Amino acid sequence: MGAVLFSMMFAGVNAQTLQSPDGKFEMNFQLKQGVPYYSLKYNGAVVVEDSKLGLRLFKDTYIKFASEIAKPEDVKFDLNNGFTKTDEKRDSKNETWQPVLGEKKNYINHYNELAVTLNQSSTERNIIVKFRLFNDGLGFRYEFPQQKNLNYFVIREEDSEIDLTDDMKAWWMVADYDSQEYQYQETKISEIPARWPKAADANASQTLIKNAVQSPLMLKKEGRQPLYINLAEAAVLDYPASHLEVDAQNFKFKTHLTADRQGAKGYMQTPSVTPWRTIIVAPKAEEVMDSKMIFNLNEPTKYTDTSYIHPTKYMGVWWEMIIGKSQWAYGQPESNVRLGQTDFTKLTPNGKHGANNTKVKEYIDFAAENGFQGLLIEGWNIGWEDWFGRSKEYVFDFITPYPDFDIKMLNEYAHSKGIKLIMHHETSGSATNYERWSDKAFQLMNKYGYDAVKTGYVGDVIPRGEHHYSQWMINHYYRIAEKANEYKIMVNSHESVRPTGESRTYPNYISAEAARGTEYEAFGGNNPDHQTILPFTRWMGGSMDYTPGIFQTKLDYYFPGDTRFVKTTLAKQLALYVTMYMPLQMAADLPENYRKHMDAFQFIKDVAADWDDTKILSAEPGDYVVTARKAKGTENWFVGGITDENKRDYTLDFSFLDKGKKYEATIYEDGKDADYINNPQSYHIYKKKITSKSKINMKMVRSGGFAVSVKPVQ
Ligand code: NOJ
Ligand code: CA
Repeated sequence: MGAVLFSMMFAGVNAQTLQSPDGKFEMNFQLKQGVPYYSLKYNGAVVVEDSKLGLRLFKDTYIKFASEIAKPEDVKFDLNNGFTKTDEKRDSKNETWQPVLGEKKNYINHYNELAVTLNQSSTERNIIVKFRLFNDGLGFRYEFPQQKNLNYFVIREEDSEIDLTDDMKAWWMVADYDSQEYQYQETKISEIPARWPKAADANASQTLIKNAVQSPLMLKKEGRQPLYINLAEAAVLDYPASHLEVDAQNFKFKTHLTADRQGAKGYMQTPSVTPWRTIIVAPKAEEVMDSKMIFNLNEPTKYTDTSYIHPTKYMGVWWEMIIGKSQWAYGQPESNVRLGQTDFTKLTPNGKHGANNTKVKEYIDFAAENGFQGLLIEGWNIGWEDWFGRSKEYVFDFITPYPDFDIKMLNEYAHSKGIKLIMHHETSGSATNYERWSDKAFQLMNKYGYDAVKTGYVGDVIPRGEHHYSQWMINHYYRIAEKANEYKIMVNSHESVRPTGESRTYPNYISAEAARGTEYEAFGGNNPDHQTILPFTRWMGGSMDYTPGIFQTKLDYYFPGDTRFVKTTLAKQLALYVTMYMPLQMAADLPENYRKHMDAFQFIKDVAADWDDTKILSAEPGDYVVTARKAKGTENWFVGGITDENKRDYTLDFSFLDKGKKYEATIYEDGKDADYINNPQSYHIYKKKITSKSKINMKMVRSGGFAVSVKPVQ
């Protein structure tokens, strides 16, 4: 037998193949000289070339950290070589599950699984690499069974590679241990290093990772047979969030975990598992956006009662602070205050405190008149005078209102009108302080009947030196979610890590911000294509608190000469209620601005926030998104369409509606003379009888859009 033939047979024996349920994907696993590799084919063509797997560790028994980290890397601790395969298990699943709140009534979890046990004979340690191949892509993770020689260990780095075949187009932002509030870039993979230094702007807390990009990352192979790939992760629990290091010559990405304050990347005790690395692949962009793979890779919830979790549309005493019209603080901003010592009733009021009784009542009235369920009030509690950038640990107590905020009276007033106040817990990054106060804070919420909280982590984290995406902080976010569940409270978290499907396990952790939201329009702007990229990236693992609904987009309305403006038309703001899934959905503008456009505001009043079905009708990252959704428990549909900086015509085909039924559509579109810079408030509203055979031609102006509500008629 020739040597070549022998080695081929040997490779064959050592390689494992896994197919997706529909047979379109094939994953191959093999050991090459003891090093684990996988590759992925779609429709017979390679999409991921042989890519290495493995982790590097610090000393793996007793951890004396400061001395350990200073030592040069010792390869004998690594879990990336010297393996033989000792076991192989296969499994498959085809289940349908119902998210508590979701984009569809049913999510389908259908996969074939391969788990390979690898033994490192030199150290007598075993790890398992588990692969799940779905009809929309691959997930894999490492598992560490409990064993004599692997009980406690610290990760130096996870080196999971994804080696792509082509110089694909990428929609990316710079990687950072503390922030995801960057503008998206659109370049080829090979162009990332040259663009990278120009792609970051300043942030209140930032720790950039050179030449790395954030996950989820959206990619496209252009040409006659396009292919879209989304790289992300799922179930990031008790582990740091990961980023993607870029090898621009080889179109290869590698995991880069968020380091902690000591430079370590995960403290593990066996038995344990890593998050899943995910590779979603589809010939159509719409299919990528529609994928629920990241949620499927999370565990079902163990919560025994989820009845308190409900969709909520809310307004807020908020945007006026963001733009600088009012203040969070009651006293003079930037003045030295101390909780427990400062008498806040004796402070000289700054005269612009937003959360005051009179104003809050006005907001309650308006929210109640227009059918909202909630009202967020920020700046209600003491401590905002010097809350930011001082590394104060005891910065807020989350229970003491300012002198002009009568919490009892306002709650009674709100409840009498069917409104629940939404709590605000800005931590200023002081997570230790929040953990100390969270029981009392949630008890106060229970006492007054608040059932949702917006948390926030602006600025550098305390424990000092920790990062927003390190293991300690990840554990903090879910400790808070679990505690909130004990008090039957829903959580919407800002500046925390982007979700990776955890809402399946923690259904009260409704959403996070974790990207540039509408507020950035007041802090430097979002590009007109921003909202067409987010659903392919930030949204892949869970909903975002984008806070749409700004009708008064030009800020010179408040401050003559101010050049800041929200870079969309008013009609595009309406469309965002459909294109951006968010069950705790805000109408962010001031009542006075909605009052001037009650006809357009009607769409925000009507639109649902929880859905039985979702159809991504048409989408291309960076260009446009058109989404149709069916409201939970009804026959009503809502459609939203948005475009980037280019105007665009679109034929809306209603064939997704039930055949033979009659509907009435209300169309909210850009006015003929609308323009996101020169004439953003020009819109046109009309009604039309339609059936599943109808088509309507839509004209979107640059950074414009349309919204349609569809109701059955007799
Ligand atoms: C940043 C949040 O994103 C914003 O919504 C909030 O108003 C401020 N922090 C203050 O907490
Ligand atoms: Ca574009």
